Amino acid sequence: MDKKELEKALGLFLALEMEQVSLYQVQAAQTADEHSAMALKHFAQIEQGHVDNIGAALQSLGGEPGLLAAVSPTFGKIAGHMTEVTGLVNLLRANIIIETFATRHYRYLIDRVEDPGLRELLYMNMIDEELHRAWMIDKVRELTGADEEKKKLQ
Ligand SMILES: [Fe+2]
Ligand SMILES: [Fe+2]
Repeated sequence: MDKKELEKALGLFLALEMEQVSLYQVQAAQTADEHSAMALKHFAQIEQGHVDNIGAALQSLGGEPGLLAAVSPTFGKIAGHMTEVTGLVNLLRANIIIETFATRHYRYLIDRVEDPGLRELLYMNMIDEELHRAWMIDKVRELTGADEEKKKLQ
């Protein structure tokens, strides 16, 4: 992957990470369940860390992360509506899809990057996304009683 392609890919990551910060902030503010609200608040902070480290990586390549700040945070608006309409389980299911998407994008880029420092940064971010995904899958199982069903079968 040449420098231009890498800058473009990291620019897309930066925009997606910014969307996730606003998404989780809005969801945290609207979620009644305290444990889930705290988790979403924490996820927003972790996504902000990704915004910062991807922004720094772009800057070190000579890119212009400031230009991408113009991307509008639309997920947050959609999520706000979604919370009222469909409840926490569906909100988490939608987030799991987004986290899966993010994880796949990180994997794609890791497979095309040679710089060891950048690879490590991308790995750390991807593992954060995997942890978010795993937490939310576990929460959905708890909320839908899937764990209880499993216990009955044991
Ligand atoms: Fe992220
Ligand atoms: Fe995430």
